[in-house]
Amino acid sequence: MPHPTSLPAWLALEAHYRTIRNQSMRDWFAAAQDQSPTRAQRFTLEGGGLTLDFSKNRITDQTLQLLFQLARESGVEKQRDAMFAGAIVNTTEQRPALHTALRARTTDTPYANQIQREHAKMAAFAEQIRTGQWLGHSGKPIRHIVNLGIGGSDLGPKMVCEALKHLGHEQLSMHFVTNVDGTDLQRVLSQIDAETTLVIIVSKTFTTLETLTNARSMRRWLIDNGMPEAKLAQHCVGVSANANEAVQFGIAPENVFAMWEWVGGRYSLWSAAGLAIMLLLGPAHFDELLAGARLMDEHFCTVPLERNLPTILGLLGIWYRNFFNFSTQLITPYAHALRYLPAYLQQLEMESNGKSVDVNGERIGHSTAAVLWGEAGTNGQHAFFQMLHQGTNIVPIDFIVALSPEHPYLDHHLKLLANCFAQSEALMRGRTQEEATRLVGPEKAELAPHLMFAGNRPSNTIVLDALTPHSLGALIALYEHKVFVQATVWNINPFDQWGVELGKTLSKEIEQTLADPVASLAHHDSSTCALIARAQAKLATLNHR
Ligand code: F6P
Repeated sequence: MPHPTSLPAWLALEAHYRTIRNQSMRDWFAAAQDQSPTRAQRFTLEGGGLTLDFSKNRITDQTLQLLFQLARESGVEKQRDAMFAGAIVNTTEQRPALHTALRARTTDTPYANQIQREHAKMAAFAEQIRTGQWLGHSGKPIRHIVNLGIGGSDLGPKMVCEALKHLGHEQLSMHFVTNVDGTDLQRVLSQIDAETTLVIIVSKTFTTLETLTNARSMRRWLIDNGMPEAKLAQHCVGVSANANEAVQFGIAPENVFAMWEWVGGRYSLWSAAGLAIMLLLGPAHFDELLAGARLMDEHFCTVPLERNLPTILGLLGIWYRNFFNFSTQLITPYAHALRYLPAYLQQLEMESNGKSVDVNGERIGHSTAAVLWGEAGTNGQHAFFQMLHQGTNIVPIDFIVALSPEHPYLDHHLKLLANCFAQSEALMRGRTQEEATRLVGPEKAELAPHLMFAGNRPSNTIVLDALTPHSLGALIALYEHKVFVQATVWNINPFDQWGVELGKTLSKEIEQTLADPVASLAHHDSSTCALIARAQAKLATLNHR
């Protein structure tokens, strides 16, 4: 594959950018106001049950045409088909990336038998927990589920459980322990009792420091709180691609649910890594989540690029990242239930596409993943939206909104929707000097510059009819495929994460040094030496307490 920056479409986009960078969306909207179709009609599409309004972007028909050309020249369609067919798209690890097979529900997709078998095992287990047939060591049914995991083994299940809590089993409370910081574990332990707790240890590798440290402390706590060691099987199950390690830890072999090498951690919530989701929501809702994602998969695979939602979302991101040079991207769900979505998408986008070498290991000369951040609306409006409206950085935004609420407070919902739509309109329109001057009047003319808004700040609005397992599945798959489109254009591998290794290696060594005050620090820099020495001194006093 040639370097993306030397593709004809890339070069044409550079030239096109220079012609439209100072043009205003407000003018474009005004010019097309009485036309049919309107700008909104031209730039709003449906797919996978979702609606994407991308009209408030700094694009014209020509921009889109060039972006689609870029996608074609980059081989997006070919690479997409290869991924779905199970080709080795994760080249550094020599693996396919088959998260889509987990939701395909057909017999002719790769690994279909294994997937169905594991799914059936999850469903049977979920039924036992949810109906109260599965009992803890003292004969009581399970009431607390504790998911121990980090990264992809935490963010997806936690985000979905929170999003769809309103559909959850009323007698099951979900807890997620992630951080190696003992505060995380301690706070959960203070809310649960050992007799009615089921622990799910989720770790694809079953070697992750945080998860294993929490798992050991959790096992100790169960025993200290009355669970006979021989009854661990009633309180602890594992999800891993490394069944041997899970069994070695003490999990009964029949309680180990499989993950596979061909599904990346951040793409794994559709597998047994999503066991917590299935326990809370039940198999039927879990299947709806898969069905929503499947519908988005079909859309991604079959609809031409020009009407293809993940492709458009990915290309708009490239337009802003590589041509406008905007370095961050905000995700703001106007749905409290989706408040963990930004954290989930941070891993999905930044662990996948935060790379500096291409698939051949050559350094790349263009920017890759933007810094993704976010917060639920309307909370963000009272924190950082000031900067979005009047700051010196321009941040492209994805607003996500569900038209029907999952609660009975319709007046709240009306206000929520109004705020969402008002923000994207204000960011696009801005307020001119003339408008600001008219607003403040001649006697306060000096205030006018403070009340001016540059406008022309881009956003997408993704509309769900309601937040359901189906629409959430489609939404997640939309972003998964967006990431894939961007990776393909950037010519990088979105399925590995070598960048997390160095810190892991160093932390192991420093952990040993912290516990051994006479260990040599000579090979560390002076800052790290001083920090270690300071911590050693403090730890010595704690040990003597
Ligand atoms: O450190 C990064 C990472 O490998 C992620 O990719 C992964 O989701 C997370 O750690 C957890 O890994 P595991 O499921 O193997 O414990």
